[in-house]
Amino acid sequence: MVRNVAGLMTELEPEDFYLLSGVEQGMRFSEWVNRKKLPDYADLTPENVDYRLDRCMRRDLVQRKTIQYEGYQLTFEGYDALALRTFSQRDSIEGVGAPLGVGKECDVYEVQSYKPLALKFHREGFTDFREVNKEREYTADHHHVSWLYTARKAAEREHEILTELYPDVSVPRPVDHNRHAIVMEKFAGVELGRAKLDPEQAVGVLDLVLRELSKAYEAGYVHADMSEYNVAVSSEGITVFDWPQAVATDHDNARELLERDVRNVVDFFRRKHPRPIPEVDVEGVTDRIVGGSFESVRDDA
Ligand SMILES: Nc1ncnc2c1ncn2[C@@H]1O[C@H](COP(=O)(O)OP(=O)(O)OP(=O)(O)O)[C@@H](O)[C@H]1O
Ligand SMILES: [Mg+2]
Repeated sequence: MVRNVAGLMTELEPEDFYLLSGVEQGMRFSEWVNRKKLPDYADLTPENVDYRLDRCMRRDLVQRKTIQYEGYQLTFEGYDALALRTFSQRDSIEGVGAPLGVGKECDVYEVQSYKPLALKFHREGFTDFREVNKEREYTADHHHVSWLYTARKAAEREHEILTELYPDVSVPRPVDHNRHAIVMEKFAGVELGRAKLDPEQAVGVLDLVLRELSKAYEAGYVHADMSEYNVAVSSEGITVFDWPQAVATDHDNARELLERDVRNVVDFFRRKHPRPIPEVDVEGVTDRIVGGSFESVRDDA
């Protein structure tokens, strides 16, 4: 688990960030940045590099290897610190609060701004090596594959998709993006998997979720990771989140992925609410989403 670096931010000095950005720059060319190159990359004297490296090492913002040559790379904490600094310089956020969620491949915190927002740090390529295929898709056009690049690509992609979908689809409003992090509106409510729905509401909520998938399809995207963990339910309605792996509707597998999304949602409702949910023709619903005519699963009955 990656530590929350928010508490470190006030201790860090501008030149510590020069060092961190220098290491970041060097990582575009090699996984471990040769110490000898750091004064150039960081625009600091060699003595200052020594001093800053020591400060950043003590705070686990960079790590060292000594085999072959002495090299440094950012830790995720170091990368987080760089993103946080950018967000606060742009006034996107004023302070980091409590964790809102820890996913397989991300950390999400509440952040203070003109109102409470959510900050999501992507961790792809670092914590989950099982997701090789996902990783390939992001990095197919690039030779030097590092976690830094993979996580940044995932955040870029998620921010881009939220920007395309908001406000036509009920997704968190995107606020800012930097490196491997995005700032977005904090949604209300709880994850569908933990929501207490009374039986009469269940079919209505199922329809709401499927209608959002339909609107997303119309806007050109299939979520491709739909489950009760990526939908929030509140008294105001639902929000569909967690979009980095979404695919465009002209993708070869779009139809298959959409059908899987629909099936995941329908199966969840039928499992959790066995009685009130009617039999649903998943293929039929998928067809109607593709054709732009989906209204309700009750239309099957
Ligand atoms: N905008 C938001 N507002 C409030 N809470 C959020 C927001 N975005 C994410 N969260 C919380 O963080 C958790 C993890 O977020 P998300 O689902 O986006 O990532 P993930 O599941 O780790 O992604 P992946 O599927 O790549 O592993 C969510 O379940 C939710 O509790
Ligand atoms: Mg999720």
